[in-house]
Amino acid sequence: QRYRDSGAGDKMNPFAEQEAWEDHQIGKAKMKFGSDNKPKDDEFQYVFEDQIDFIKASVIDGVEFENKFLPESPEDSIAKSELERLQADRKTLPIYPLRDELLQAVNDYQVLVIVGETGSGKTTQIPQYLHEAGYTKRGKIGCTQPRRVAAMSVAARVSQEMGVKLGHEVGYSIRFEDCTSEKTVIKYMTDGMLLREFLGEPDLASYSVVMVDEAHERTLSTDILFGLLKDIARYRTDLKLLISSATLDAEKFSEYFDAPIFKIPGRRYPVEIHYTKSPEADYIDAAIVTVLQIHVTQSPGDVLVFFTGQEEIEAAEEILKHRTRGLGTKISELIICPIYANLPTELQAKIFEPTPEGARKVVLATNIAETSLTIDGIKYVIDPGFCKIKSYNPRTGMESLLVTPISKASALQRAGRSGRTGPGKCFRLYTAYSYHHDMDDNTVPEIQRTNLANVVLTLKSLGIHNLVDFDFLDPPPSEALLRALELLFALSALNSLGELTKLGRRMAEFPLDPMLSKTIVASDKYKCSDEIISIAAMLSIGNSIFYRPKDKQVHADNARLNFHTGNVGDHIALLKVYSSWKETNFSTQWCYENYIQVRSMKRARDIRDQLQGLLERVEIELTSNPNDLDAIKKAITSGFFHHTAKMQKNGSYRTVKNPQTVYIHPSSGLAQELPRWVIYHELVLTTKEYMRQVTELKPEWLVEIAPHYYQMKDVEESGSKKMPRGKGRAVMD
Ligand code: CDP
Ligand code: MG
Repeated sequence: QRYRDSGAGDKMNPFAEQEAWEDHQIGKAKMKFGSDNKPKDDEFQYVFEDQIDFIKASVIDGVEFENKFLPESPEDSIAKSELERLQADRKTLPIYPLRDELLQAVNDYQVLVIVGETGSGKTTQIPQYLHEAGYTKRGKIGCTQPRRVAAMSVAARVSQEMGVKLGHEVGYSIRFEDCTSEKTVIKYMTDGMLLREFLGEPDLASYSVVMVDEAHERTLSTDILFGLLKDIARYRTDLKLLISSATLDAEKFSEYFDAPIFKIPGRRYPVEIHYTKSPEADYIDAAIVTVLQIHVTQSPGDVLVFFTGQEEIEAAEEILKHRTRGLGTKISELIICPIYANLPTELQAKIFEPTPEGARKVVLATNIAETSLTIDGIKYVIDPGFCKIKSYNPRTGMESLLVTPISKASALQRAGRSGRTGPGKCFRLYTAYSYHHDMDDNTVPEIQRTNLANVVLTLKSLGIHNLVDFDFLDPPPSEALLRALELLFALSALNSLGELTKLGRRMAEFPLDPMLSKTIVASDKYKCSDEIISIAAMLSIGNSIFYRPKDKQVHADNARLNFHTGNVGDHIALLKVYSSWKETNFSTQWCYENYIQVRSMKRARDIRDQLQGLLERVEIELTSNPNDLDAIKKAITSGFFHHTAKMQKNGSYRTVKNPQTVYIHPSSGLAQELPRWVIYHELVLTTKEYMRQVTELKPEWLVEIAPHYYQMKDVEESGSKKMPRGKGRAVMD
């Protein structure tokens, strides 16, 4: 159908498709009109109701009509289809001239390190080249990404380029979402997912190629994959291994894998760097002001701003919208596009749409835009100099997400995002002095700053017992390894010899933090697995369940507090939200009325469904006990007995083990109530050290449930055993 092709190919004109369709109908009209000037069927009449006279007139005017409505211009008939356009685009990427050379290198070496700047086509093209060269006849091509959004958006892009439906030949797999099928030959996935696939297929037999992409990010899962892949490559000599990186860490990978480096020369334009004269007190505000300044003073070109997370992005979006509204027509259009991991897929696509003439796009992004995603048309980068990174103190066992200054390597990457398609400018919201003197050269790999419990459990279930001898690219601190082993032992996932127990094996089936997996397995005993998997699913989607529109904060807060009636605690409140939604038959309307994000709820439902499937696998019966709240809380305690705190004065709490001062997060239903003993899901450090998702606890449960961990003296109510002052302070250093 020609009219469809020519319409879809013309993306710049949103009306093109409509126009082409009308052209086509008119063409049809002429054919059907015949000589009697009368419509032949109803369809015709329906379509042309209001144009009929006009067309009649034209038809009477024979030749005129012919010229006016029917011409199929030569461009039209050879008009590029969307697919052809994408194919042409592929050929303009820096990697394209190296296609054959790259295939040759893959053929010659089992392991290859590939380096090329962001946007050169590594992620989208290499798997396609290998597919075209026949590698998929022997098995799948797997390509790992550190982030979910990247895995999804890249898979979508590649399926478009190949003209196939997403989930068929090209698919993606992320935690709790598998968009692949029997047909899938190119599979994009998070690095964590490939790690889990080792559990079911320890030699990755169904793969012919594994590409570890964005290797420079050095996420925990990527680092573990290095060790595992290096190991299986020894006996799976037919498996091709590609390690691709956007930065210069390549030497290190090359040495580790004993593999050559394949360089894709970048095209890069100069980037002008500007620093602030003095440090900025409020970098969000400074970033917003800079966006507006660029918008009114600088030549056309889109803007990319780096924030540390969803909350900052949402706040910035709101303020920007408000300020631009205030300026009205005094400024040209500013299109604001947020991008972060939890953004719904439909909205993610928006950042890739070309900016209309006269307008300017401003992309508010997390670190994801540093290397994983390439957005065309960016000319200005605003870099506040921060990112959110996980940090872990093995001494106290405390893990937290901290807003931290970025490294010089990150700063360079960020600046480089502005010089992809032409000369760019980068505005750094910090001083030149700070850059040179305060910032580290490189970001510390995640493996050296995280809780390793999950990874240790996975490795143990893969049969890797001696973790000290595991071939790490950079080994984790031995203290962190020890901590992980201790935690897994306390959770009874490992026995005293460090071997995986039956319980541990069941826990490893769940793609969750071991404490949450333990909670689920323990729910069997308390006959409330039905409730616990709902809670686990709700906890897994993080804090994006309730929303709080600025103009309806009171209503939103009231709606939220409804679920907290009886001070049941945040875990039970989450359960109530889920159950109530289920009772309305998963009504969207109900979500609106209760200020709940329907998208998050749907995700929770998906996760819950999967957890239910996993219950079956580990032979736990689905049992429900909705009225026995103590049973539910005890199951939670079985997993989270490490996370307990006791109230001190002034609303502050002290954690029971590894004592430190913490507070109940203001969003908690117990923030006013302040129970004496609480169990918490996580600690977050924002303005203070906060416990998020908190439930009241009876201290005797600790001794009952975790007698190896708590003794009566830990939980007795006595003022006599005060912790030495200051002991908990040095925790976040
Ligand atoms: O992996 P690398 O950074 O080397 O490049 P890539 O992700 O393969 O991107 C190559 C090109 O594909 C970019 O210039 C983008 O324009 C385009 N692309 C896109 O339009 N949409 C995506 N979701 C991903 C890539
Ligand atoms: Mg890439």
